[in-house]
Amino acid sequence: MRTIKVKDKDFQLFITAEEIERAVARIADSLNREMAGKNPVYLVILNGAFVFAGDLFKKLDMPCEVSFVKLSSYKGTGSTSCVKELIGLNEILRGRPVVIVEDIIDTGITMDYLLQKVRALEPADLKIAALLFKPEAFVKSFPIDYIGMEIPSDFIVGYGLDYDGYGRNFAEIYKLVK
Ligand code: IMP
Ligand code: MG
Repeated sequence: MRTIKVKDKDFQLFITAEEIERAVARIADSLNREMAGKNPVYLVILNGAFVFAGDLFKKLDMPCEVSFVKLSSYKGTGSTSCVKELIGLNEILRGRPVVIVEDIIDTGITMDYLLQKVRALEPADLKIAALLFKPEAFVKSFPIDYIGMEIPSDFIVGYGLDYDGYGRNFAEIYKLVK
């Protein structure tokens, strides 16, 4: 089993690049069916979602725009319940169908915070596309419209996800060796 080291921790291969690519393609197919002709804005949550968003965006076959918001809630390998907004939302979302693009929904606290902020801008429609979802850790109740894969509550890195800022550049996803 392939293992890697990120800073002081060991991680083992968990999701291959091919499995990720298939999950991204499934989400893109659904969006191409359901958002075509609606002129959506894809709202990407930085930093983690930048790799997923880049691959997803290339598979979208419709007129659309992209915007970014930067939030932070993680420190090391644990979620803190305090979310910070580092790059703010933009008026482009008002009156448009918005699809939030997120790498992973864990407790859901980050997304819940963002949903309230985006709703205040009165989008015409609001959907969520998340590559990964940890159902056992989820403490909120909002629906997630597009999910690439459900995973257990292990801490993971790669494909945009980091441990303390590092490990985002792997094409595969690795989980923490306990
Ligand atoms: P939540 O607020 O607990 O749902 O956490 C969501 C954010 O925490 C995501 O946007 C990720 O950036 C980050 N996150 C959640 N789980 C992991 C993980 O296993 N590895 C790296 N980052 C994670
Ligand atoms: Mg994130």
